[in-house]
Amino acid sequence: MAHTPFTDLLQKDLATLETNLRTLLDPHLEETDHLNLLNLACGRGDETGVLAKLLAEKSKSAHLQGVDIRAAEIGQANSRWKDNVGEHTTADFLTHRGDRLHDLAQIDTPDIAFLRHQNYWNDAPVWNRIFDQALERLEDDGLLVITSYFDREHALATKALKNLGAIQVGSLVNSDSRALSDAPGKSVDKHLAVFRKK
Ligand SMILES: C[S@@+](CC[C@H](N)C(=O)[O-])C[C@H]1O[C@@H](n2cnc3c(N)ncnc32)[C@H](O)[C@@H]1O
Repeated sequence: MAHTPFTDLLQKDLATLETNLRTLLDPHLEETDHLNLLNLACGRGDETGVLAKLLAEKSKSAHLQGVDIRAAEIGQANSRWKDNVGEHTTADFLTHRGDRLHDLAQIDTPDIAFLRHQNYWNDAPVWNRIFDQALERLEDDGLLVITSYFDREHALATKALKNLGAIQVGSLVNSDSRALSDAPGKSVDKHLAVFRKK
């Protein structure tokens, strides 16, 4: 049986993410002049093109910033996307701890905080701080969006966000999610949820 090339799988994952994010965000995002998006724990930021496209549908200009603790991935994100996300959007990526956003003067006040494949299970106290500081940084009418690989991890992250005062305003289970073989029950962007700060 012929294998689907890995790059094709990633492209399909991103196309699915685009559709699902549009469905999820559309009812909550008004058209405006400018939008700032903070992609927290962004890794290589593979989804940057998708995010830029969605921002362009809602605003005349946008700035997308990514933050991750891993310098190598941030280097890849900057090589691929910095000054290269189209006329409408600028992007830059910073190596920094998401749980120490207080120390980071270079980031804007985001209209959207985005966390793809949040990793609450890896270290709950750290992820609580990441969520808390993302909410604190967010515009008062801003949106926080998470996606998750696992059912249980998504439920725990959702509970943690609600405990921090976030209000869930939307959710979606990804029926086209691609199962991953490295852990039981792991699946690409399996769950998505959107929260308001207040
Ligand atoms: C499951 S990966 C998701 C990466 C990327 N968002 C994606 O979907 O491919 C979790 C990410 O969290 C990052 N991370 C872990 N702890 C962090 C912290 N304290 N601050 C910022 N990023 C962190 C890791 O380096 C990793 O890139």
